[in-house]
Amino acid sequence: MTAVHKKLYFRLRQSLASTLFLKPQPKPMVFIGEGSTVQLSKAIGRFGLRKILVVTDKPLHDLGVLDTTLEALQQAGVQTAIFDGVLPDPTAQIVDNGIACYHQESCDSVLAFGGGSSIDAAKVIALGTANNSDAAGCLGIGACKLPAVPFFAVPTTAGTGSEATFIAVISNNETHSKDAVVDPCLIPKAAALDPELMRGLPKHITAATGMDALTHAIESYIGRWETDDTNYYGLAACRLVFDNLAEACRNGDNLQARESMALASHYGGLAITNALVGYVHAISHNLGAKYGVPHGLGNALLLPHILELLKEDATEKLADIAVYCGIGERTETPTALTRKLIDQVWALNDEIGIPRTTDVIRTEDIEGLITAALTEGGNYPSPRFITKNECRDVLMAISS
Ligand SMILES: NC(=O)c1ccc[n+]([C@@H]2O[C@H](COP(=O)([O-])OP(=O)(O)OC[C@H]3O[C@@H](n4cnc5c(N)ncnc54)[C@H](O)[C@@H]3O)[C@@H](O)[C@H]2O)c1
Ligand SMILES: [Fe+2]
Repeated sequence: MTAVHKKLYFRLRQSLASTLFLKPQPKPMVFIGEGSTVQLSKAIGRFGLRKILVVTDKPLHDLGVLDTTLEALQQAGVQTAIFDGVLPDPTAQIVDNGIACYHQESCDSVLAFGGGSSIDAAKVIALGTANNSDAAGCLGIGACKLPAVPFFAVPTTAGTGSEATFIAVISNNETHSKDAVVDPCLIPKAAALDPELMRGLPKHITAATGMDALTHAIESYIGRWETDDTNYYGLAACRLVFDNLAEACRNGDNLQARESMALASHYGGLAITNALVGYVHAISHNLGAKYGVPHGLGNALLLPHILELLKEDATEKLADIAVYCGIGERTETPTALTRKLIDQVWALNDEIGIPRTTDVIRTEDIEGLITAALTEGGNYPSPRFITKNECRDVLMAISS
């Protein structure tokens, strides 16, 4: 393909895909702060629902993090059933088990309670149930006719922003791929951002998931589908992460920092719902699907490398972020500001204990990873396409 053809092809793919995403999307009603899960539970009671399926994972269930919410739901007159079979990066089988549990327990609604994995599984359980479909039948864009059953979300990590997005990511352990379910009805009716639930989130998960939020904020902001709305949320999320992530990692009991990170995550989710993500996610998804690298960790490892690669294509936008976040002054050149921002990302990664390399990438897998990542990345509105050689260099740079 010549350079001119590449440019035309890039524009065509962008405009086709943008017709799907660049539309107003619903936003969930949000309760924020300590005790907000109790407020959410009362709201669920007012929806007139009878029995809700709480979708979560076993470690969280065993930790007792759910207890206050279960009690509040009972007090609001809503019976509960628990499906705690979610594992990180949920598969179609996990979703199908959740759908079976929903029917067995005669529920009429779904509450996601946990990190992005529980929220994504719950989204597809709510959609599949309404459509009498299994998870496989929900895959793709708008594959189902009927909207999801009433669906609510309580994130217990601060990073994915999945409680704000219309996407659920489902992993396939046989093909080592991650597939998406995309439907505006996956946006919950209401969500609670309750920092109290995040007190016990281990430091390494706080760090990795927090960098997922920063990646959403930056990739949406420098991408080509940004709007005033997504720029607002993207910038606000960047500032919240730079101001609070290190403190949330140092002192997990600092509920102010936890709440700010929950908000950063939510804003990042609102931003990517219209503006999507970029090559950090395209590569990270494939490292997750192939080797089980946690989503946030993959993003954290890749973010500074991709910014180094795209810095000349997104200088003005990266400079805006630096100024907005107090990393530099408007009087400095955009190039100098961009340098400062990328250095700040490297420094934040180091401060919160993100490693610079991973030993999971096998040399014989690299060409396949490049093909998969560039195919996925070509669907995102990045400032430009990256080449095979550039992608290879990034994978080599993060390999130890
Ligand atoms: N739908 C979207 O818009 C979207 C966006 C980004 C990522 N994702 C998906 O989200 C998933 C990753 O989610 P994640 O990063 O939140 O991790 P996760 O949900 O996989 O959870 C990671 C671990 O943290 C534990 N945990 C969660 N909350 C805890 C708490 N408060 N205290 C103690 N332990 C806790 C869980 O038990 C689990 O072991 C990936 O599958 C990714 O593809 C989805
Ligand atoms: Fe993400």
